[in-house]
Amino acid sequence: MLSRRTAWDLAGNRLSSRLEALRAAGRPLLDLSEANPTRCGLGWSAAELGAALADPRVSDYEPTPQGLPAAREAVAAYLAGHGAAVPPERILLTSSTSEAYALLFKLLCDPGDEVLVPSPSYPLLDLLAGLESVALRRYPLRYDGEWHLDRAALAAAVGPRTRAVVAVSPSNPTGWLLDAGDLAFLEALAGERGLALLGDEVFADTALAPRASAAGARGCLAFHLSGLSKVCGLPQLKAGWIAAAGPEPLVAPALARLEVVADTWLSVSGPAQLALPALLGRRERFLGPLRERLGQNRRALASEAEGAPFDLLRSGGGWSAVLRLGEAVDEEALCLALLEDGVVAQPGFFYDFERNGHLVISLLPEPGRFKDGISRIGARLRYKRAQ
Ligand SMILES: Cc1ncc(COP(=O)(O)O)c(C=O)c1O
Repeated sequence: MLSRRTAWDLAGNRLSSRLEALRAAGRPLLDLSEANPTRCGLGWSAAELGAALADPRVSDYEPTPQGLPAAREAVAAYLAGHGAAVPPERILLTSSTSEAYALLFKLLCDPGDEVLVPSPSYPLLDLLAGLESVALRRYPLRYDGEWHLDRAALAAAVGPRTRAVVAVSPSNPTGWLLDAGDLAFLEALAGERGLALLGDEVFADTALAPRASAAGARGCLAFHLSGLSKVCGLPQLKAGWIAAAGPEPLVAPALARLEVVADTWLSVSGPAQLALPALLGRRERFLGPLRERLGQNRRALASEAEGAPFDLLRSGGGWSAVLRLGEAVDEEALCLALLEDGVVAQPGFFYDFERNGHLVISLLPEPGRFKDGISRIGARLRYKRAQ
């Protein structure tokens, strides 16, 4: 009676079951998987948010499929700050970046079509694609002292049903950055093969080196995706955007159809759209302390990694860090043991690493708790090695 697309295994894995049991028993845990800024002391105060949302126009309803012009202008100004000139007419508001993916998959793909996504990458992409009856095909990011796009492998992954390539930059969880050379390669490939480029750039403001943006693409149909969730640390506002780039003969019909898709749901709340310009304008209120937090936790991790039985993989930005433990390590057994030590960390297999032996941790937790957590990870790995 129910669809095949929703035939998930809902039993939960051993890690989530044990975590739930420990939480139910009231065990104190240092959660190094926490990626919700509002739970890490990086949120906005109720007074600040209340002021941004206190617009007298909140009592009106103005249905606009693309989103209110002032909000789209604010997004255009944000992109201009990142060096991409995108006019507000090429911007469409969404309720989140996740929704942006869903709208774009509907626009670009028929059921059974394929989208190329990086591996490793964050797990939500599987659900987002599956719910649109789209198949994901992986292309590898490879590490040799830093993360690289394997261009030959990506080109080889393009098949007759491929419709789009997703590039997440900085990527989650690796911190891979799209550079100008990779963007030129992707534009050429997408242009030649008739694909769209989707640039998920939610972590752009935490990039540690110069990066290129899909919003600056000229040679193919491209879409930049982002939102207040990561740019302002406001996942609860439910406001994101898509910015289209590329040749006008490709962009114009795509945007015209996208408007119809957006018009079907009109999912972005009016108050969020009205508040968006003020909140986006004040993003450094969040980004300043965030960068400080990420830097502090990265430094603590680098110092814990010295002489420890793991490597801290080099990252170009983002909110997480990857520890390489060696292929012989059983990731699930380690994460279960860490839970008993009072630490929540994510195994690499959640993110589809090509090789076994990784841990992913969030860099958001409060520094005292973060340091405590990583020293317990170090202690657990040293203990395992001594066994
Ligand atoms: C790379 C990446 N893109 C998109 C999202 C989803 O963002 P949103 O909260 O705007 O849906 C996430 C969430 O963690 C993410 O890591």
